[in-house]
Amino acid sequence: MGKMTLGTVRSLSVKCLSELSWHDNARMRLDVREAGGLLTTDQFDVKWTPGNAAGVSTLLSMVDAEGRARILLMDVGWDVAYMDDVFRREGVDRLLADGKIDFVYITHEHVDHFWGMPAVTKHRPDVKVVIPTGFSARSKELLKSSGHKGEVVEMAPGPHLLFPGCASVTFDQPIFLKTHGEQVLYVNVEGKGIVTLTGCCHPGVLGLLEYAKENFDGFSAFHGVYGGLHISPFEEWGPPQEEVLDKLQAFNVRKFACNHCTGEIAARKMRERGMPVAGGTARHGSKSVLYPGNGDTIDF
Ligand SMILES: [Fe+2]
Ligand SMILES: [Fe+2]
Repeated sequence: MGKMTLGTVRSLSVKCLSELSWHDNARMRLDVREAGGLLTTDQFDVKWTPGNAAGVSTLLSMVDAEGRARILLMDVGWDVAYMDDVFRREGVDRLLADGKIDFVYITHEHVDHFWGMPAVTKHRPDVKVVIPTGFSARSKELLKSSGHKGEVVEMAPGPHLLFPGCASVTFDQPIFLKTHGEQVLYVNVEGKGIVTLTGCCHPGVLGLLEYAKENFDGFSAFHGVYGGLHISPFEEWGPPQEEVLDKLQAFNVRKFACNHCTGEIAARKMRERGMPVAGGTARHGSKSVLYPGNGDTIDF
């Protein structure tokens, strides 16, 4: 298969609506352990502690090569009341109601990225939803029961050009909590280079970057990396994590805007190495200024 020609967009601005999956890490781990553990339990069978859920969601604003605005909602969070507040605070409720959001892009079916769908459909039931291949029957049922009435596009494994300058790649692999598949966005910003945008990055950030080098025609540079990188989600640290950073550093990414499951310790270690990690304001529940958090905007 030949390489894909990505094209370019004129600009990309990323607003972190919320990167906080849940309020209490220990509580979340206990919920999963009590249900049987990360590897064997279906996320639908966990008795999640009420009041602990929050959610991950990001607003992407681009101007394409023709000068047209392209607005995507990447992931929709978890707790519906929490996401109602987030969408109201950031004006996403109005964008949805006014039909300004081109489509909802669900990176993967994990509870903290997807179960907040009713907070979207109440404003726009017919919004187009783009999911990766591998969604379970229960996840598809959840989408229906959220009141969604619009088109659902299921992306096959591999690369897809969404519009010039913006591609989606589906990584077809099992993920813990009995889920499957994650898709990632690659946006090529004119005169700057490629920006990757991820939910959790369960397939691994190194593979993701390597993929771009091997599969996109005219690859020039990694301008940015946004989203969860899943390096130390529960603040674990040791030689395997150091090795990831060794390899990650060699890609010479110009701007890291990593949050959510990247881990605070990972952000700190990256800064210590001199890697360009954007900071944040630690507002609205985000816990550290070491990474872009809830309500923060990053222009790439
Ligand atoms: Fe996540
Ligand atoms: Fe995840």
